[in-house]
Amino acid sequence: MKCTAIANSNIALIKYWGKADDKLFLPTNSSLSITLGGLNSHTTVDFSANYKEDIVNIDAKNMEGEKKEKVVRHLNLIRNIANSNLKAKVVSKNNFPSAAGMASSASGFAALTVAACASLGMKLDKKQISIISRQGSGSSCRSIYGGYVEWIKGNKSENSFALQLADENYFDIRDIIAIVEQKEKKVSSRAGMTETIKTCPLYSSRVNTAEENLIKIKKAIKEKNFSDIGKITEFDCLLMHATMITTIPALLYWSPETIKIIKLIQEWREEGLESYFTIDAGPNVHILSLPENAKEIEKRLKEIEGVKDIMNCNIGEDAKLNGEDLF
Ligand code: PMV
Repeated sequence: MKCTAIANSNIALIKYWGKADDKLFLPTNSSLSITLGGLNSHTTVDFSANYKEDIVNIDAKNMEGEKKEKVVRHLNLIRNIANSNLKAKVVSKNNFPSAAGMASSASGFAALTVAACASLGMKLDKKQISIISRQGSGSSCRSIYGGYVEWIKGNKSENSFALQLADENYFDIRDIIAIVEQKEKKVSSRAGMTETIKTCPLYSSRVNTAEENLIKIKKAIKEKNFSDIGKITEFDCLLMHATMITTIPALLYWSPETIKIIKLIQEWREEGLESYFTIDAGPNVHILSLPENAKEIEKRLKEIEGVKDIMNCNIGEDAKLNGEDLF
């Protein structure tokens, strides 16, 4: 059966950077994200006896090599659970640049998991879907839900899953993304985090602090305290990047424009325009703001040389099956 799903990307406020178990994708710390409305992957999966091998097409390109392998490995996992040996055709498109620290793997694997499980007729709840999605790309387990989402790290596959803390209507904050680079990053998150765990002397201290920050940010979310949400988000982002920078060899994902924008955000705050940054494994800057300041921030970002594109996201909804098949 052919099934199609749409899943939104997410931005972590408390980041995941490192696995306690590489095979099961169990993280070293729990993490927390907001789902990003309008930044999505749209994926159709068809398991059928018509296919002799898996076909994977992303953004109108047939995938080969490592990229195809990651998808096929995930299809194998789902086939195993469903006890099926049917091959599949997968067609997917992202409405934002892939792999430039824009977490296309999060929305991509979330949409793939929802569509593939439905295509094999599996009846699963969201928790089970998030457990499967996690094993394709860790951060994708959070994209199964909309709103404010926690990924509980757990210590075995069954208890490492995402859950929704609050839905997309709970507290409206915006993520304005300044795109300074659209090229694919040189070191993938998957490869980078493995090296960080192996070589970074600061790693365990960041993991402990992440758990503390998670408790603090959940309190700030409960109180709808934007300033605290922003401050804790920035702190965790800098802690994660500190471990990246002190990986051997150094993982410096930032570009000069990244630092320029960080400094501007600090200046804007001093002037009273409140916003906070966070950055994934790439140079693009996510700027958190309240809705009333979003237009002004967007206007100021447009004036910065080196900013190639800007996306203004509200908080998005759950991953969903949808009828618009791509083939
Ligand atoms: O799940 P992956 O392999 O795309 O890794 C995601 C890593 C970060 O985006 C940097 C952090 C996060 O929690 O999303």
